[in-house]
Amino acid sequence: MIKKDKFEIIKYLEKNKISENLKGRDFLKLLDFSTEEILFLVELSEQLKKEKKQGISHRVLQGKNIALIFEKTSTRTRCAFEVAGYDLGMNVTYLDSQGSQIGKKESIADTASVLTGMFDGIEYRGYGQSIVEELAEHSKVPVWNGLTDEFHPTQILADFLTINEKFGTLKGLKLVYMGDSRFNMGNSLMVGCAKVGINFVACCPKQYVPDKNLIETCQKIAEQNGSTLEFTEDVEAGVKDANVIYTDVWVSMGEPFEVWQTRINELLPYKVTQQVMDMANENAVFMHCLPAYHDKNTKIGKEICEKFGLDSLEVSDEVFSSSKSVVFEEAENRMHTIKAVMLATLIK
Ligand code: CP
Ligand code: NVA
Repeated sequence: MIKKDKFEIIKYLEKNKISENLKGRDFLKLLDFSTEEILFLVELSEQLKKEKKQGISHRVLQGKNIALIFEKTSTRTRCAFEVAGYDLGMNVTYLDSQGSQIGKKESIADTASVLTGMFDGIEYRGYGQSIVEELAEHSKVPVWNGLTDEFHPTQILADFLTINEKFGTLKGLKLVYMGDSRFNMGNSLMVGCAKVGINFVACCPKQYVPDKNLIETCQKIAEQNGSTLEFTEDVEAGVKDANVIYTDVWVSMGEPFEVWQTRINELLPYKVTQQVMDMANENAVFMHCLPAYHDKNTKIGKEICEKFGLDSLEVSDEVFSSSKSVVFEEAENRMHTIKAVMLATLIK
């Protein structure tokens, strides 16, 4: 394996003034970051990905310790933080909702003070955005949001890295989000697209659009970056000329099982099928943060599909498995982008 000297990586970061501003910062939501900072993190991820494939070592944070708190389950985010942490030379401690005192016997504020004394960085996945914000407020080390009900910012960096790899640009593209646009993925994509100048469309029933204050904030950001936000119930008009068709599950972690019935009734017309992909731009790709209910090969997917007489939910297996689907590149990119976030915020 070729070893990259620590000095070289630090020099790469020093070449860009933006990286100075990222040191020691929390990564809680994209609204806290400028367009330049977001694009810098995507560019850094691209560099780290290229170097990893060349066998170049990134152990520049050797000896540091990070804590990963997961109050909800995860495959990609946990693995991405762990592998990126190990690649950077760090030691990683995983805390789940059952095995720690967090929230049950110890407040978020006290947990933050305890972890700050032992760790150099803390990842948090859980429920309300206010919890991760509180954790950050009481921590003296960077806190990274690994998903809350409102936002999933590290996912968006991976999505942008993937889109940039496919189209060679972000600005000026059209991304259409199909389905429940008012939860973490719809919100975060709207913010991210506004920040980097992607034209964003939420294609869903009216009651599924993001919060009105968040829309107003994002309208202003989008205007500054020369892009638009659109909200439509009309699938054909919404997906016309789209470069990216994006969807997510209709019922998110933490929501009651009972809401499936209403979601299926209201969101079935927004399922991503081959017909939807055919209405988009010829070069359109299909994206999904995953996990996805594209067939009956999961416990929940099978149960819901059989109950409602369906063979898949938010996306058909035909689209999911097609050559237009970039979902597994997107999943791999979680690791490279999370590595960039930890490197940029922890490097001295
Ligand atoms: N996309 C995503 O966050 O996946 P996990 O829930 O597996 O972490
Ligand atoms: N909206 C989904 C995203 C999973 C990565 C959820 O919160 O369950």
